[in-house]
Amino acid sequence: MCGIVGYTGGGQAAPILLDGLEKLEYRGYDSAGVCVQDGGGLKVAKAKGRLSHLSALLEGGKALQGTTGIGHTRWATHGAPSDENSHPHIADSGKIAVVHNGIIENYQKLKERLLAAGKRFHSETDTEVAANLIEYFYDQGFDFKMSVRKAVERLEGSYALGILCRDCPGVVIAVKHESPLVFGFGKGCNYIASDVPALLKYTREVCYLSDGDMVLFTDREAHFFDAAGDPVVRTPEHIGWDASAAEKAGYPHFMLKEIYEQPKAVRDTLSPRLRDGEIALDDVRLPADYLRSLRRVYAVACGSAYYVGVQSKYILEKLCKLPVEPVLASEFRYADPVLGEDTLVIILSQSGETADTLAALREAKARGARTLAIVNVVGSSIARLADDVLYTWAGPEIAVATTKAYSTQLAVVYLLALSIARQLGTVDGARFEALYAQLERLPDLLEQVLDRRTVAQLQYDASRYFHNRDVFYIGRKLDSATCLEGSLKLKEIAYLHSEAYAAGELKHGPISLIEDGTLVVALATEPAMFDKTVSNIREVKSRGAEVLGLTIERLGEELQKTVDSALLIPETDPLFQPSLAIVPLQLFAYYMALMRGCDVDKPRNLAKSVTVE
Ligand code: AGP
Repeated sequence: MCGIVGYTGGGQAAPILLDGLEKLEYRGYDSAGVCVQDGGGLKVAKAKGRLSHLSALLEGGKALQGTTGIGHTRWATHGAPSDENSHPHIADSGKIAVVHNGIIENYQKLKERLLAAGKRFHSETDTEVAANLIEYFYDQGFDFKMSVRKAVERLEGSYALGILCRDCPGVVIAVKHESPLVFGFGKGCNYIASDVPALLKYTREVCYLSDGDMVLFTDREAHFFDAAGDPVVRTPEHIGWDASAAEKAGYPHFMLKEIYEQPKAVRDTLSPRLRDGEIALDDVRLPADYLRSLRRVYAVACGSAYYVGVQSKYILEKLCKLPVEPVLASEFRYADPVLGEDTLVIILSQSGETADTLAALREAKARGARTLAIVNVVGSSIARLADDVLYTWAGPEIAVATTKAYSTQLAVVYLLALSIARQLGTVDGARFEALYAQLERLPDLLEQVLDRRTVAQLQYDASRYFHNRDVFYIGRKLDSATCLEGSLKLKEIAYLHSEAYAAGELKHGPISLIEDGTLVVALATEPAMFDKTVSNIREVKSRGAEVLGLTIERLGEELQKTVDSALLIPETDPLFQPSLAIVPLQLFAYYMALMRGCDVDKPRNLAKSVTVE
């Protein structure tokens, strides 16, 4: 989604804004722009297309002089990507400049009123309404701060805003409501940004603004106000991770780097919680009495995080004997779910800012359910709002297509399931110990999956199949959940039509789509389900499919008899096997995307963090 950067200080703003925007490119965008202030004037440069295009127009920022500024990468919602619709937007009389992330839902009504009041509009965006509304109050004699306050009181929807006023050189105002915004404390300068990577080169002292917060800042001062307009103190938090964690470190793409980071990310997530033969869930207390009172668990999320929710159904039901329902957050928030004190709602999110997931969390809380968030971004909205939080220690994930966040979410689900099962006594001591030992080995096994031979085979397979039009993923139980994620990876980065089906379901309809050369990726990692899945592979083979099979090493020879190409992974407990099975599917999607000439890290139309509904 859109990215915002703001700066005021002694240096030239434009190069800092362009640099910050570059660090936010991962969020997805279709146009970019900056506005800088020099003395009194507001100077804007914006253009459809890549940030590099704008940067070239501005000679890296040199062509736009000024020491205060706001910058933006836009992901179109209201109005097509175009120069006119790009941000910053300048209000009708040129006194106010605004950048915005989010959606102003009542913009049409406000626009009509502003048109009636004589304001003119030059774009199709909802953002221009915010700029004109602020200017409308400013024209009535309110000061800059009060004009912003009066305008935001009338806005409905989600917004993070960065605002400049022509008559207030050196001052930036930012407001946050349901869209992420971070304030960066500098020395003789201050910053805002949609995410920390944009600031790391300049400061590690940041604070995540809360909903309703407004900050008015100059080079030396920052004044924070809450939703009621009362002054509040926001203290800096030190960012421990290095800027290099958000760099490619020699890899051609962030996605590939992040795939290779998975053993470490899973180790960092598991090992502090595997303590002396027991599971330590940070500060989360799930006493046996409470767990016994539970009637139902929901796993609520979007996209890949939802697919971890689907995995969690198999894992928690098997180990804890608790009914688990995975629900898409965009459905859950409007579905009138049956919730109460006897319900635990697990919320999964990498960014912790996904609009639908955040709304679902609010809904669950309002209905009295206990909420437990599994989140990667420390201090994000979901992490702060949930009753309990378990962090996935994946580090910053930059590629739009998630890999290490997905893997670490799965790891947390394993920990949670084992901990609950231990409390409820639904697994005996020997089984608990066996599973515990397998969890400890998981990062090492992940390293083995990333072995050079597997990678070379995947490159070869991708070179054979990248021209295919459709790809089907099939598997049973946990494998079918892994298929959902494997198929999503292929769709999002290789732009290939692909479907994931429970293997037994294929013959109830979709098998009619199988014809000569259709590629089927078949997962058969669970020994107890192996023969069943092999029968389904035979069904598609006899209709002309090319089958790329995936199983555990011990069953490799058997699978090779039926498939065109077999990928082998080390064996662990079937409940943990998805952690290993997903890695070849990520790599397959990656190499397919490369061979199809796609922009792996910034796939078309997609945003890393979907902060609008
Ligand atoms: C995954 O590759 C996607 N880019 C997407 O489905 C993502 O998982 C989804 O938007 C949820 O994001 P979140 O984890 O930040 O909430």
